Amino acid sequence: MPARTRRPRRNDALSAALGYFRDLGVREVHLPKLTAKAPPAEAGRRPAAVPPTAPAPEKARSSVEPADSAVLPAARAFPDLASVQSAVAACQLCGLCRTRTQTVFADGTGRSRLMFVGEAPGADEDASGVPFVGRAGQLLTKMVESGMGLSRSDVYIANVLKCRPPGNRNPEPDEIASCRPYLDAQIDLVRPAVLVALGKFAAQFLLETEEPISRLRGRWGSRHGIPVMPTYHPSFLLRQPDRKKEAWEDLQQVLFKLGLPVPRKKTEPTP
Ligand code: URA
Repeated sequence: MPARTRRPRRNDALSAALGYFRDLGVREVHLPKLTAKAPPAEAGRRPAAVPPTAPAPEKARSSVEPADSAVLPAARAFPDLASVQSAVAACQLCGLCRTRTQTVFADGTGRSRLMFVGEAPGADEDASGVPFVGRAGQLLTKMVESGMGLSRSDVYIANVLKCRPPGNRNPEPDEIASCRPYLDAQIDLVRPAVLVALGKFAAQFLLETEEPISRLRGRWGSRHGIPVMPTYHPSFLLRQPDRKKEAWEDLQQVLFKLGLPVPRKKTEPTP
C-alpha cells in the first residue's frame, strides 16, 4: 500500500511558531482577551500574539541575492513581512504593549539593498506609527538623501523595539528579547546587502556584543553573513554635531560596499 501523506493540520502553523519562540527562550505568551466589546472586524479574528502562519518559503527578496539562498531561521516562522507586521500589531510579549499608542513596524518596501536599524520609537513615531519621523528621523532622512544621494524610499528602516519605551527610556533586556524574533524575521525576509546599525542598542543587537558604540562604529561587522556598519544614532548627532563627520565617513563606507557613487560633498547633512 502506498504511504499516505499526512494532510497539514491547522495547528501545525501555531506549533511551528510557538516552537520558534520557545527556542529563543520565550517561556510565556500572553494572548489578548477577546471581549464582547471587540469591534466586529476584530471579533472574528484569532488572537495573534504569536505568528499565525506556518513555515513557508520566503517570498520577499531584496534585489541582491545572498550567496546562500536558503530560508533563514527567523523567516521560517513567517512567510512574509505582512505576517510579521500582523504579529507585531497584536504583540503582548512585554509590558510596553500597555503604554504604546500603536506599534511601529517599519518604513520601506522590503525590497531594499540597504536597511537601517534604530533603537525604539519615540513620541512622534508612537503617534504616527512610522519609524524615524521626529527630529532624529529628519536628520536620518537628510543623511540618506542629502548625504548618500539616495531617496528615503530606497531604504528599509526598522527598530530593535516596535513599541515606545515610556519617556524614551532605554530598552530593557527583556523587551529586546521579546521583540527579537520580529527584527530577526524582518532582516531575514528583506535580506539587505548591507545593514546600518544606528547607535548602541542596534549595534549590540545585530553584532551580539556588549562592546560600546564608540569602539564598534566605523568597523564592519557581520550578521548571518550580512555586512553591518555600526554608526552613531541621529539623536546622538543632534546633541553632538561635531561627530557628524565620523558618521559621514561610516556612510561613505556603506556606499562603497554597495558599489554606489559617493556624492560630491557640498555640505555635511545638518539637522
Ligand atoms: N529613534 C529611534 O531609534 N527610532 C525611531 O524610530 C525614532 C527615534
